[in-house]
Amino acid sequence: MKQSLIAVAAWAAAASVQAQDAGQINIICSVQAEWCNMIQTVYARTTGVKVNMSLKGSGEALAQLIAERANPKTDIWFGGTGDPHLQAAENGLSLEYKSAALPQLHAWAQQQAAQSSYKTVGIYSGPLGFGYNTELLAKKKLPIPRSWADLLNPVYKGEVQVANPASSGTAYTMVATLVQLMGEDKAFDYMKHVHKNINQYTRSGTAPIKAVARGETAVSISFIHDAPQEKMQGFPVETTTPSEGTGAEIGSMSIIKGARNLANAKKFYDWALTPQAQQFGAATKQYQLPSNKSTPVDPNVPDFKKIKLINYDYAKYGASAERKRLIGKWEKDVNSLPR
Ligand code: G6P
Repeated sequence: MKQSLIAVAAWAAAASVQAQDAGQINIICSVQAEWCNMIQTVYARTTGVKVNMSLKGSGEALAQLIAERANPKTDIWFGGTGDPHLQAAENGLSLEYKSAALPQLHAWAQQQAAQSSYKTVGIYSGPLGFGYNTELLAKKKLPIPRSWADLLNPVYKGEVQVANPASSGTAYTMVATLVQLMGEDKAFDYMKHVHKNINQYTRSGTAPIKAVARGETAVSISFIHDAPQEKMQGFPVETTTPSEGTGAEIGSMSIIKGARNLANAKKFYDWALTPQAQQFGAATKQYQLPSNKSTPVDPNVPDFKKIKLINYDYAKYGASAERKRLIGKWEKDVNSLPR
């Protein structure tokens, strides 16, 4: 009895020392909730670090970081599309850090780091395309959308959903992709016309594919790696990528300048680049291509070789002035139009 009490006391003392030593970390997480929650639990359990996590879309995360610039409450921004991470880097919101794991990453992830002067890094990549509900399309006798041009078809009136580029990195990737594919004037003309077929611009980038899955809309403009998860739940969802070509995101991670828990932020950052940590994406049914070359690639991850990808200019479209200008123009010229 006495011995077991001593053992418990020793354990409690050790645990409290560990808790004190391990400290905490504040993370803004811009991937889907299941992945964020998994990271929170596993990282806390394996390191003893208290993980405070808040979930925000890419554009919303950037807005929060700008708002708390004078008194940062965030240590790490994990995930979300790369463009706002590059904007954060340019605006001095994130901190330069070169992880020892950098050489283990794919060239696109290292390039994301290099062009931000190591203030952000690629953690995954995923292509933009269309999601559609097979049952709804059949019921409404609608064709499968296979090109950007197809979405202009008036048969899709009120049937297409996409997010709002101000809050969602997914939707900003669409705007930047169209501008690169068609040239700015034609891209905005195109978006004005597609606007007539859009039923809603959602806050979050993943809301439209979830609406497709649940039969609330027939078609979505989405990252196609977000579809298998819905399909596995039994929903009638399929995807295509536009025949003219499409863009891909470089999901990114940044350490926040002025982080109160800087040592922990660096440790978390190194951990998040390991194959072990990157497997939690697929483990929570999120099928982006992981940035560490040694992370096993799940068969549900889209095959990039089969997709016509544009040569997306991440530096240009992640630049602060350009991103602000395009979003402002979208609000004024597209979102304000009647439908
Ligand atoms: C989902 C995707 C991620 C993407 C993120 C962007 O979580 O799986 O690959 O980076 O959406 O979210 P947002 O709401 O900013 O479009």
